[in-house]
Amino acid sequence: MRAGEEMLVPEHQNCRQSWRWRGGRATTSAVLGLALLVFSGVMFLRFTSPSQDGALNSSDPVLVDLTLVKNAKEKGALCLDGTLPGYHFLKGFDSGADNWLIHLEGGGWCHDLESCNARKYTVYGSSSRMERQVPFTGILSNLPSYNPDFFNWNKVKIRYCDGASFSGDVEETEQNGTTLYFRGERIWKAVMEELLLNGLATAKKALLTGCSAGGLATYIHCDDFKALLPNAETVKCMADGGFFLDVKDISGKSSMHDFYSDVVHLQDVGKMFPNCISRMDAAKCFFPEEITKSISTPVFILNSAYDAWQVKNVLAPGYSDPSNLWASCKLDIKKCNPIQIKILEGFRAALLDDISDVKTKKDWGIFVDSCFVHCQSLRNITWHSPYYQRINNKTIAESTGDWYFDRREVKEIDGPYPCNPTCVNDGF
Ligand SMILES: *[C@@H]1O[C@H](CO)[C@@H](O)[C@H](O)[C@H]1NC(C)=O
Ligand SMILES: *[C@@H]1O[C@H](CO)[C@@H](O)[C@H](O)[C@H]1NC(C)=O
Ligand SMILES: *[C@@H]1O[C@H](CO)[C@@H](O)[C@H](O)[C@H]1NC(C)=O
Ligand SMILES: *[C@@H]1O[C@H](CO)[C@@H](O)[C@H](O)[C@H]1NC(C)=O
Repeated sequence: MRAGEEMLVPEHQNCRQSWRWRGGRATTSAVLGLALLVFSGVMFLRFTSPSQDGALNSSDPVLVDLTLVKNAKEKGALCLDGTLPGYHFLKGFDSGADNWLIHLEGGGWCHDLESCNARKYTVYGSSSRMERQVPFTGILSNLPSYNPDFFNWNKVKIRYCDGASFSGDVEETEQNGTTLYFRGERIWKAVMEELLLNGLATAKKALLTGCSAGGLATYIHCDDFKALLPNAETVKCMADGGFFLDVKDISGKSSMHDFYSDVVHLQDVGKMFPNCISRMDAAKCFFPEEITKSISTPVFILNSAYDAWQVKNVLAPGYSDPSNLWASCKLDIKKCNPIQIKILEGFRAALLDDISDVKTKKDWGIFVDSCFVHCQSLRNITWHSPYYQRINNKTIAESTGDWYFDRREVKEIDGPYPCNPTCVNDGF
């Protein structure tokens, strides 16, 4: 089993930065032992309960109804197609009754009239298409075994239907003969106003979170969120898979920058960053590298250094790879050749460089693993499982809780791939 050995045994010198067992033969065999233990755990699970990888409790997740925002029409806070925006609300209980966790849904962006128009006919552009109920899993779970610190909080999942990370605002709705509402910023405000009236205003503790395009929105709205809750004891933000990098793709083009430039101009997102756009181009201001510089509220950065979505869409988008050399690597990191792995390591280095200032901020948290995945807080297997997705033997749920409740300073940075034997590398 040479391939298996290579996958599980840390080879890089740098692996040590992620595993606290340092030096000597005993520690090496401890790592090896854990790796084998994890490996047999994986095999055991695969063979015994294929449908519930990593489950700590076999209960089904709770299904939560969609609520449409009442006064949204008067406020002009509408989805791309002009329908009302919506959210799913699950009431808190016991010690969590006065605490609120708000999750901003992700789902990419649209960057021109054609792609925004197509989006009107999907759940990401119209509440008429949205599921009436969604399961609450991972950080949204109401079960303590899946979600130890936040299970009993009030929880809200805000649906994403504006195409620009809850940040666009254009008055005009007729765009070259197409009707489109670019109103993400108004949706953010309208949902917050409704939640404030329904109990958020008296929250003791609050956490704004979100994944992917919702993770980017979390960075963008973090200080706004804090400002809405002047009487709360603790307000913090956790952005999952939202640290998009302004790097060149494999053909040398700044394709993500160009894409963001389109999004920002189409939906007039620059208004969100008045200080930034006076210093640099508006597209640059839409990257977390810049946004985080001006956030004063404590933030937890949860991101894979090998973010599967970014590898597919930022680093090696289709047109940057006309001969399809990256096709299998993009789907399965185990199929990447050594040159591709080197390029992925460069991507990782760019992320670590962008967050280097954050490492010195005492009240900020970091969990940067090297697992080939995208959103990690919404799936029970990546959020809190006895086997997977750990750094220093702490799950993402434990690390987020430790940071939120000030139980320890959390600055977890994994060694490079394939150091971490607990990784789920399934690309989702
Ligand atoms: C699963 O969680 C529920 C709710 O917390 C609990 O009542 C039940 O006993 C748990 N089941 C197992 C098998 O742990
Ligand atoms: C945990 O995740 C598995 C796989 O996605 C899913 O089948 C199961 O319903 C989830 N359980 C809970 C309680 O979220
Ligand atoms: C609308 O059409 C004009 C003229 O064809 C074009 O210059 C402009 O870029 C279009 N606007 C958008 C947002 O596509
Ligand atoms: C890792 O943590 C689990 C509890 O989550 C514990 O049972 C296990 O012994 C720990 N392993 C190591 C190597 O510390």
